Amino acid sequence: MTTPTTKLVQSGIAWDPAYGAVVPPLYTSSTYVWPSTDEKGLYDYGRSNNPNRDLLASALAELDGGAGAVVTNSGMAAIDLVLNLLPAGAKVIAPHDCYGGTHRLLSARHAQGKIEAVFVDQGDAANVADVVDDAALVMVETPSNPLMRLTDVRAVCALARDAGALSVVDNTFLTPLRQMPLDLGADMALQSTTKYLNGHSDVVGGVVVAKTEELQEQLSWWANAAGLTGSPFDAWQTLRGLRTLALRMNAAEANAKAIVAFLRDHPEVPTVHYADAGLATTQQSGPGAMLSFQLETGKAASRVMENAGIFRLAASLGGVESLICQPATMTHRGMSPEARAAAGLDDGLIRISTGIEDQNDLINALEAALALI
Ligand SMILES: Cc1ncc(COP(=O)(O)O)c(C=O)c1O
Repeated sequence: MTTPTTKLVQSGIAWDPAYGAVVPPLYTSSTYVWPSTDEKGLYDYGRSNNPNRDLLASALAELDGGAGAVVTNSGMAAIDLVLNLLPAGAKVIAPHDCYGGTHRLLSARHAQGKIEAVFVDQGDAANVADVVDDAALVMVETPSNPLMRLTDVRAVCALARDAGALSVVDNTFLTPLRQMPLDLGADMALQSTTKYLNGHSDVVGGVVVAKTEELQEQLSWWANAAGLTGSPFDAWQTLRGLRTLALRMNAAEANAKAIVAFLRDHPEVPTVHYADAGLATTQQSGPGAMLSFQLETGKAASRVMENAGIFRLAASLGGVESLICQPATMTHRGMSPEARAAAGLDDGLIRISTGIEDQNDLINALEAALALI
């Protein structure tokens, strides 16, 4: 039995059926020759299936311990794909502090009458229990973006199951290397592959991993019908990124731990959010590399972010380079001001995606920026 680290490194290696290439070739063809009119080959049309996408999907399904995976053209397409499983007007329970784009999509679908979106604080599973009756889907995002709040995945997925609802966990912040949603009871695990899985900030993509073959078939059907599948090149590149996921995650997490220790001791920083205690110790195998911290004012936060040197001021996360952002005005701008306030987001909050640079360089950059307040 090889470990996930070895499996990741070996993703797609020596697969090439034609010439024995060590890394898989890229198949960009949109269409494939049929052997006869009543017999199609393994591949027929690029939206439906593609060798590079299949290689990535099987690596990701194996990593998550699922029956199969569907690779989509963005993380949002992965979320939309899951919504496609639901009947019109279905009740969807989601975290009130989820990623801003998720909140925007669910709110817009609600406004159209396509779903009934119910946002609750999932930090207490009792809040889910209160509304789960007649729900069709429970969406979980833990740690939450950007406040790193934790949801008890076992408890919430059990509530969903008992109510006859599907459950899905957005595992973008941790990846299966740090949290295994399907083992914790979820029906589906999804990720924006834009982030850690690709890891180099040069692909936008997503994935949904299904626990059962039945769900996998439904997801594949909808991905093809609605045209949500990812491009061959993106799949090829993401598979390349995947081979270093374990190395990158270990290095970025070590840096995040050091930054958190530095910030927790800093007099100008009243609160640091990091998923390293409580539920994190029972459902995660590590805290990951995302963190956020609160400053007294939005003005102080802007000053720090604009002077943070090697921390680039940009949305997104999970790349080898460190990024810093103001969620209220950047990643969570798609939420209404009321929804942002309800989620506890203000302009003083700073989010960091820790990269794999030298730890001292990162801490020195933050120390210099905080000295300007
Ligand atoms: C937790 C989370 N889920 C989903 C998404 C959406 O992914 P994408 O930008 O690849 O569509 C993001 C994007 O930042 C995210 O942070």
